[in-house]
Amino acid sequence: MIGLGKMGLSHLAIVRSHPEVNLVAACDSNTYLTDVLGKHTGLKCYGDLDRMLDAETLDAVVISTPSKLHAAMVDKALQRGLHVFCEKPFVLDVRDGARLIALADAKGLVTQVGYHYRFVGAFQEAARVVASGALGEIHHVRAEAYGPVVLRPKGGTWRTAKNEGGGALYDYACHAIDTVGMVLGAPQSVSGVVVNRLFSRDVEDEIYCTMHFGSGASGQLAVNWSDESYRKMSTRLTVWGKNGRLNADRQECQIFLREPHAARPDLPKGWSVRYTTDLTEEVWYYLRGEEYSAQIDHFAKAVQARRTDGVNNFRTALETDRVVAMIRAAERGDAPTPGSGLAAGPTRVPTRPGFLERLFGRGREPVARAMGSR
Ligand SMILES: NC(=O)c1ccc[n+]([C@@H]2O[C@H](COP(=O)([O-])OP(=O)(O)OC[C@H]3O[C@@H](n4cnc5c(N)ncnc54)[C@H](O)[C@@H]3O)[C@@H](O)[C@H]2O)c1
Repeated sequence: MIGLGKMGLSHLAIVRSHPEVNLVAACDSNTYLTDVLGKHTGLKCYGDLDRMLDAETLDAVVISTPSKLHAAMVDKALQRGLHVFCEKPFVLDVRDGARLIALADAKGLVTQVGYHYRFVGAFQEAARVVASGALGEIHHVRAEAYGPVVLRPKGGTWRTAKNEGGGALYDYACHAIDTVGMVLGAPQSVSGVVVNRLFSRDVEDEIYCTMHFGSGASGQLAVNWSDESYRKMSTRLTVWGKNGRLNADRQECQIFLREPHAARPDLPKGWSVRYTTDLTEEVWYYLRGEEYSAQIDHFAKAVQARRTDGVNNFRTALETDRVVAMIRAAERGDAPTPGSGLAAGPTRVPTRPGFLERLFGRGREPVARAMGSR
């Protein structure tokens, strides 16, 4: 275990109680924390990653340090031939991500990133329904994430520092973007990016943008971590297809079909609801939600089987990082530069023909700037 803060301690409890994982050691630069843990739990603790890696014989690591440290720590672990579970976001610079994927591939190592929504039954059902084709051609998606993280001016932690991976974009939006990736695949470009500060000085508190998909579908992202009307982070996905619509959140997946579809005979015309409680298998240890334990179990099993194409591997996580980077670039007003690792090029946004176009045929289609038209 590397990093024993808010997320690391959750992972620690889950990993330690996993029947097939032997937790060898932990590492955190906060010596007060490691002293207390070592004394009261008997866990072997280190204050420095290199010292731990030099001293211990390990198969895998779980990295839960502040986000700007991920790339360098993942690199060290992979160099030593260790399988890696890393918290989200995977990396802050997509070029690091591409390099680390190549390294993991070359060594045949298992990788995973902590996008736990991919283990929530309702979102998995949403992905199945979309993949089945029952909704017909998908033309729009809306991904939302709201919660009460920053409700007054505050500062002083890595979460409030832009260059350390702080802000609502890295903290909240990447979850919503990753969930879109899970259900529809990642968008090719973004436009109309709005990034606002409400209480924070250095980082954004809310983000809105339009997403453009290779299929021609469009999407909207709405994220606000300064919304006190929510008790904790709430993520919601709505997908519109020509044959219906679905809404998914952590609790349930609601599906509306205009007409029944052969691919999903269990879904009648009209509304159906699938509940996460019915779609979720029991886990050996419950903390925060089954998905947190399920993702660690998935990683442990992937390591045992040496399966490198599991859920949330570095490849899919980097797709999410790419979208985050496109939003950042649009916020700065930058065009994508060669070698930046971002999918570039203007995206042709399909539009429905207007009245004049229907009369006289299509003229020039509007072209959205790939990196945000402001
Ligand atoms: N998946 C999720 O829902 C979720 C939720 C919260 C956080 N996270 C992610 O988990 C990561 C950690 O977030 P957090 O909330 O636990 O942060 P945190 O600040 O509570 O904890 C970070 C820990 O890392 C330690 N650390 C810092 N530098 C270190 C170093 N050089 N070597 C070893 N340890 C070091 C700190 O002492 C601290 O204990 C972030 O990447 C964050 O985005 C994910």
